[in-house]
Amino acid sequence: MLGATVILACRSAENGRMAIDTINKEYEEEKKKGTPGLCDYDKLSMDVMELDLASLASTRKFINDYRDSGRPLHVLICNAGVAMCPPEITEDGYELHFQANYLGHFLLCAELLPLMEANGQDCRIVLVSSFMHLNSGFDSKRIQGIYPYTLYNRIIHYSNSKLYQIMQTYTMKRLLQNSNVSICCVNPGWVYTDIVRGLGDYGTLMYWSYSIVAWTGFKTMYQGATVSINAAVSPDKPEAPYYTNNRVGYHSRTSRNKDHQKHLWTYTLECLKPFMESETWNRLASFNMGGENGNDN
Ligand SMILES: NC(=O)c1ccc[n+]([C@@H]2O[C@H](COP(=O)([O-])OP(=O)(O)OC[C@H]3O[C@@H](n4cnc5c(N)ncnc54)[C@H](OP(=O)(O)O)[C@@H]3O)[C@@H](O)[C@H]2O)c1
Repeated sequence: MLGATVILACRSAENGRMAIDTINKEYEEEKKKGTPGLCDYDKLSMDVMELDLASLASTRKFINDYRDSGRPLHVLICNAGVAMCPPEITEDGYELHFQANYLGHFLLCAELLPLMEANGQDCRIVLVSSFMHLNSGFDSKRIQGIYPYTLYNRIIHYSNSKLYQIMQTYTMKRLLQNSNVSICCVNPGWVYTDIVRGLGDYGTLMYWSYSIVAWTGFKTMYQGATVSINAAVSPDKPEAPYYTNNRVGYHSRTSRNKDHQKHLWTYTLECLKPFMESETWNRLASFNMGGENGNDN
């Protein structure tokens, strides 16, 4: 409503178009109320592009289509996520939370980065992480943590993917030193959304219990979304790696461990090699992550 062109990257184009209709209706209502600061468009500038983050082929196609569209890119918000799903391996052979929440977004960031660098303006990558990352440790031998399946733990798999986003942020911040592009993670807090649909196989009791708790005490979707939007458009460029409620937030020692960050970076690049352009891959693989270990502050 401030006038930016927003592309909704959705796995269902139909749902995306329905969202655009809803947002345009809300825009009309805001105009009628006389809300200050709105742009003066008849309809908001929005479009839908298809993207399934659980498929690297789809993610690759999205990247190519976006580049071919000739549009510039100033802000990339990596918000999509699945949570607490039953065990599932994607078509690419990766654990679902690992791919949909972390790996697919990493590919987007890596390949769309040059587009953001090219325009020379204040550009931002915002990864929607979670306080749930605090549940996770880091095991360099089991980064996807999927074996054996008998020990599959939904909370840990979700939490790991959110931890990896923070670790990626630290390494990309090093890569982007002195660049016009900044990167940060945000934690929206407890928000009443559809996030627990992954628990659907536990039955309606679980779903309704969550709904009642969420309804009584969680943030609304609007309140949750303001955290990402603030990081995306606030005049104060987000310099910290992790924000909670628009303030610099506490994040785990594990996420700040440089040795872990390097392991994850190398592992991620190996996973993505077949889907990454060689120029991008070489840049990310050869960049000097610094020799020292220990923790970031
Ligand atoms: N809700 C909370 O309390 C909370 C707390 C901390 C962090 N977060 C984070 O906030 C972000 C948004 O979650 P939410 O709470 O808004 O949950 P949500 O209502 O379930 O929304 C998740 C979105 O991700 C999309 N998505 C899932 N898998 C996808 C895929 N493979 N490809 C493309 N899109 C996919 C879904 O699309 P479809 O509509 O097609 O399913 C949906 O629009 C997530 O990253 C989550 O980890 C949420």
